[in-house]
Amino acid sequence: MEDAAGIDRPRKRPAINIRQMEIDDIAQVFHLGEELFTASEWPNLYRTWDEYEVISLFQSDPELCLVAEGEEGLLGFALGTTIEKSHSAWKYGYLVWLGVRPSQQRSGVAARLFKTLKDLLMETGARILLVDTEADNLPALKFFRKQGFGNPQEHIFLTLNLDQARRKNGERKAPGRPPERFRLDDAEPDPD
Ligand SMILES: CC(C)(COP(=O)(O)OP(=O)(O)OC[C@H]1O[C@@H](n2cnc3c(N)ncnc32)[C@H](O)[C@@H]1OP(=O)(O)O)[C@@H](O)C(=O)NCCC(=O)NCCS
Repeated sequence: MEDAAGIDRPRKRPAINIRQMEIDDIAQVFHLGEELFTASEWPNLYRTWDEYEVISLFQSDPELCLVAEGEEGLLGFALGTTIEKSHSAWKYGYLVWLGVRPSQQRSGVAARLFKTLKDLLMETGARILLVDTEADNLPALKFFRKQGFGNPQEHIFLTLNLDQARRKNGERKAPGRPPERFRLDDAEPDPD
């Protein structure tokens, strides 16, 4: 939160409860994610966030899907999973999604969610905890640093526009209208 001098400061800590996500929370978690992971701000998060993401993590790892709630209802979520490799004793914890209602950011909600998730992952025997986010997501990077994450490894996302390739192919095969199944009515706002 910025004060009158424009300085980014933490807010007062609200009373919050961290609990396991329930089936009735799924829609709210999904909609809060839609509000946070926008195409203009975080294109890769936007591309991979949908209701099936929430549902499939809830199905596979319900004990690692957490929500924070306060007087105003749902304030944030942390969705995690574990990764085990065959022929390896290593088990990784992976914090896949983390989000806090904008009006409640900088009040310790994500820190509380993260601590609970970390304790649960330690109980499962995970030895390393992974997170990833976009390189210019400074709030998230500062948050993860504050939680003790280090050793950042660069991972570059590249994109190839298959719609353009499809249009070119379609034009070549059947001049005029592209085949019905290739027409996208609600095209993604193009961040590139
Ligand atoms: C990243 C995010 C989850 C942090 O949630 P939060 O509840 O605001 O974080 P907290 O209040 O627990 O912050 C804990 C510490 O992290 C750091 N931090 C968090 N947000 C920060 C920001 N915007 N600027 C600087 N430091 C920040 C601070 O050190 C903070 O401690 P302090 O407030 O005592 O200074 C939140 O900004 C968010 O939802 N972002 C959009 C979604 C997203 O990018 N998720 C991550 C990728 S999946």
